[in-house]
Amino acid sequence: VKRINVAIAGLGSIGRKVAELLYARQEHYARSYGVDLRLVAVCGSRAGRADSQGLSATDLEQLLPGQCGPDFILGAEPHILIEAGPTDIRTGQPGLDYIGPALDRGIHCIVVSKGALVAAGSRLREKAAANGARLKISGATAAALPTIDILEHGLLGCEIHSIEGILNATTNYLLSAMVEDRLSLQEAVLRAQGRSMMESDPSKDIEGWDTAAKLLILANFGMAAELSLADVAVEGIQHLTLETIDDWRAQGKVPRLIGRVTRQDNGFLATVRVEPVAADDVFALVSGKTKALRIKTDVMGEIISIGTASEPTGTAAAALKDLEHILSERTVGTR
Ligand SMILES: NC(=O)c1ccc[n+]([C@@H]2O[C@H](COP(=O)([O-])OP(=O)(O)OC[C@H]3O[C@@H](n4cnc5c(N)ncnc54)[C@H](OP(=O)(O)O)[C@@H]3O)[C@@H](O)[C@H]2O)c1
Repeated sequence: VKRINVAIAGLGSIGRKVAELLYARQEHYARSYGVDLRLVAVCGSRAGRADSQGLSATDLEQLLPGQCGPDFILGAEPHILIEAGPTDIRTGQPGLDYIGPALDRGIHCIVVSKGALVAAGSRLREKAAANGARLKISGATAAALPTIDILEHGLLGCEIHSIEGILNATTNYLLSAMVEDRLSLQEAVLRAQGRSMMESDPSKDIEGWDTAAKLLILANFGMAAELSLADVAVEGIQHLTLETIDDWRAQGKVPRLIGRVTRQDNGFLATVRVEPVAADDVFALVSGKTKALRIKTDVMGEIISIGTASEPTGTAAAALKDLEHILSERTVGTR
């Protein structure tokens, strides 16, 4: 039985759920992959804890102030880092300061936050390749909805012509409330916040930036597009009125916020915008907190993936799916 050490940077709702699932699955990892998997270090922004023999679930409730930061986490010498800190798509921080040095040391990284992948995705890919480390990103690319795995595994060998998706559950919920209950955007936001279904500041979702970030990561990692955020034309749902929705309804169409990247002769065209979708299009059936991705290829036709909102459990499970991909290669811990 090979000992595998895991560290988690970012111990919020996702990081804690990852730890919980990881403890529950320890026997499964031992049975299926022959590994004794231990959580050796965790941290938030101000506190954390490390133990080379493995932290218990109780230890996670008794974090020690000041035990945090990249040096603290990497000092625990994990084989695998799971990064689940906040997302800043402009700077990539704080994730970048954990992921970059981890990859430099050949530590496999499972990234849940989008920032570092948006701001420095190609640099991180190069670091991973140069150091024989895996860079896995399911949690950052619509999480429980299979997206990057389809591109990297299911469609291997195909040329991807386009990727289009309803990638943000919050905006899709708001659009559904506007269509089905004739709420204004403001009323829909208040309803969602009243039901604790939305962050207090939903602007990144509403203005399309969360969709743009996921689209960009999928394009760069799944189509080798090398786009930056400035290359994506982003319009959110903030200017959509009930009058426009009524006009589209009269034409048998419903609004959906769609992120789309299309391969062209001289590069890629990437947009995020609210579009009228015909009632007989699959995307018209994707309502509420459901997400969807449609991929068009040269030789495998059109593939569609549809799934419910990720929430903490689905996102944590997506990160641990990445962990199992790494374990299944049976190279982890051999260095
Ligand atoms: N929630 C979802 O369903 C979902 C789905 C897909 C992706 N994501 C992404 O997953 C990430 C985590 O989401 P979440 O819902 O778990 O957020 P969260 O509850 O706000 O947790 C964020 C965690 O990051 C920690 N943190 C902040 N600065 C840090 C630093 N410099 N070093 C280490 N840790 C730091 C925070 O520590 P403190 O507690 O000390 O502030 C907190 O523990 C985000 O990037 C989000 O976009 C979330």
